[in-house]
Amino acid sequence: MTVVLGIGNATLDIIHLVDCYPDENDEIRCYNRRLERGGNTANTLVVLSQLGLSCRWAGVLVDNAEGILVADDLTRHGIDISACEQSGAGSMPVSSVIISRQTGSRTITHFRDLPEYSFAAFSAIDLKPLDWLHFEGRNVVGVRQMLERVREISPATCCSLEIEKPRDEIESLFPLADVLMFSKSYAGTRGFTDPLALLQSVSADCSGADLFCSWGDAGAAALGRDGREYRHPAVLPAKVIDTLGAGDTFNAGIISGYLEALNIEGILARACLLAGNKCGQTGFDGLTL
Ligand code: FRU
Repeated sequence: MTVVLGIGNATLDIIHLVDCYPDENDEIRCYNRRLERGGNTANTLVVLSQLGLSCRWAGVLVDNAEGILVADDLTRHGIDISACEQSGAGSMPVSSVIISRQTGSRTITHFRDLPEYSFAAFSAIDLKPLDWLHFEGRNVVGVRQMLERVREISPATCCSLEIEKPRDEIESLFPLADVLMFSKSYAGTRGFTDPLALLQSVSADCSGADLFCSWGDAGAAALGRDGREYRHPAVLPAKVIDTLGAGDTFNAGIISGYLEALNIEGILARACLLAGNKCGQTGFDGLTL
């Protein structure tokens, strides 16, 4: 069976569903509230697992009720969490999320005081059985060490890297990945208003990699390592219900597309379809192509 290891965050998401997004200093009622396990890498793995891939998670848990909720949810989705680290310091990262019924938009405030997954823990993982490694582009120094280790001891193993937010020196990771997934918000912080313009601009730093950039309801684009450009429109559901984790789902579509040996056009189409399906449903359970 094909095995994917995801290195990154799992969080606790406190999700408030409201009729429409409030103004500052408003007091409004939620019509529903739920507590879920979230986190970019964890969300991506949950979708991959539902697509039939064997998934493992490398991230940090806290030994308390919140950590147990997160661990139980990953385990319920068939994800192997044996590579995780237990932290004695900090708490599980928490996102307070407001989802608007009117638009399906998600507004997130995120709290984090948890140590990052360590290079020492990563070094203890046997890379041989892994077909794909997916990294969240955060803690740049640690992720760089991890990517360099893969390059050194298992150079043929494919590594994808999510670039969601600008971080100091994050560009130094670009040459180390085979597939890079950029977000619209990262492109925005670099002054781009078009996904292919971002991808063309970073391509010189990403030698030999395929590049993807999702663009919300305007679809997504890709730039192949051979220089070919691709665009795909968004696949919008009849009604946008919940966009939380749509980008993470898009990334799962890309990884699974590679693992099924699709070409870039097919991979982009699959990622857009899967992300669209996500926006049309609540949460991730049962999400398929
Ligand atoms: C969605 C998400 C949430 C999480 C937040 C972390 O993409 O992963 O599940 O709380 O982003 O930034």
